[in-house]
Amino acid sequence: MKVLLIGSGGREHALAWKIAQSPLLEEFYAAPGNPGIADHATLVSLNVEDHAAVIAFAKEKAIDFVVIGPEAPLVAGLADDLRAAGIATFGPSKAAAQLEGSKGFTKDLCARYDIPTGAYQRFKTAEPAKQYVREQGAPIVIKADGLAAGKGVTVAMTETEALAAIDECFDGAFGAAGAEVVVEAFLDGEEASFFCLSDGKTALALATAQDHKRVGDGDTGPNTGGMGAYSPAPVMTSAMVERTMKEIIEPTISGMAKDGNPFSGVFFAGLMITAKGPELIEYNVRFGDPECQVLMMRLKSDLLPILYATATGTLDKVEAEWRDDAALTVVLASKGYPGAYDKNTPIAHIPDASEEAKVFHAGTALKDGRLVATGGRVLNVTAFGKNVTEAQTRAYALTDKVEWENGFCRRDIGWQAVAREKA
Ligand SMILES: Nc1ncnc2c1ncn2[C@@H]1O[C@H](COP(=O)(O)OP(=O)(O)O)[C@@H](O)[C@H]1O
Ligand SMILES: [Mg+2]
Repeated sequence: MKVLLIGSGGREHALAWKIAQSPLLEEFYAAPGNPGIADHATLVSLNVEDHAAVIAFAKEKAIDFVVIGPEAPLVAGLADDLRAAGIATFGPSKAAAQLEGSKGFTKDLCARYDIPTGAYQRFKTAEPAKQYVREQGAPIVIKADGLAAGKGVTVAMTETEALAAIDECFDGAFGAAGAEVVVEAFLDGEEASFFCLSDGKTALALATAQDHKRVGDGDTGPNTGGMGAYSPAPVMTSAMVERTMKEIIEPTISGMAKDGNPFSGVFFAGLMITAKGPELIEYNVRFGDPECQVLMMRLKSDLLPILYATATGTLDKVEAEWRDDAALTVVLASKGYPGAYDKNTPIAHIPDASEEAKVFHAGTALKDGRLVATGGRVLNVTAFGKNVTEAQTRAYALTDKVEWENGFCRRDIGWQAVAREKA
């Protein structure tokens, strides 16, 4: 099979590493890719926003299958355009990508199909939203409707904070993404991410993971794209997985199909495990980054036929097998992230991969033959262990061998699971 992978992050490096191990693979390209992905695929400097250029390249190279990693090209309809050109593509349609692209869309789906989620209302202007907040009281959650790069949500512990967040959204802090606002009830519990594939009809549960959004140890400081993750998430017991499939995932897949937007691709539910059970916080229509890195480490099966079955409506014919081991990834970021940071700082050394550990590239580039950091999140040091504690020890041992002066990381990735394992 000739495959083209779209994306350039740590998630795509993990996908590339896994796809490259498939005996079905004949030729492999990535656009735009990164220096880590270059170990597995030929990099192509395509402008991914130019769908016609992507299609032309795919035709020229007789690509059989395109795998789209990030959400932006999905929301922009790249999967639709590739499929219309007759190219099998992994990734949802623009219509189905609204599951991530519009919080209000997903909340309305939950309301229509009785999927457990916090009570909510949608607003297009500030005054009625504020009125609703005053009626409901704090804590309460204010969300920009659209894609806001992880910055559009305020969990307001006071009414004053909530009212300010409403003004911020409607004053344009998130551009078009904030033109509509969802106000929703605060849910109390432990969070987990639940990953699934769907071909529009069948859902296949993958695995669970927990991420760490805050920049600082002890979950302090501003939100980021994710500073680390581990899998499996201990809060997702098999009973909780079963309830999530029945109460949340299956009604979502059948509801999307009924509404004329069948979902094809990978998606993950952001869940809050409350006293009542699993409740939906949000959906994402792609692999999480850095959760994908730990999932790919744990996946025993060949990834390529699973992705292809998802894209071609034969998901009921495949299974995914997982290692029992835990996997944990530590994100090394540029000092200053998620605020301003220096670019093009040199990375002197990346330790070799071993059976138990591997460093994935995210925001790196080659400048004059030298490896430099170009992004906020730069490397993902990922390791296995018989439990999260062992995976954590191995991941930090490898992290300490990376030589990059301008890098930093959290030192406590996996702390909830490690505390449980000690107890
Ligand atoms: N209803 C809620 N109750 C409590 N916390 C919430 C709620 N909704 C969101 N959060 C918190 O805010 C974070 C971001 O919200 P989410 O809807 O996942 O938006 P995004 O990932 O697009 O920024 C969640 O991971 C969770 O910690
Ligand atoms: Mg989220």
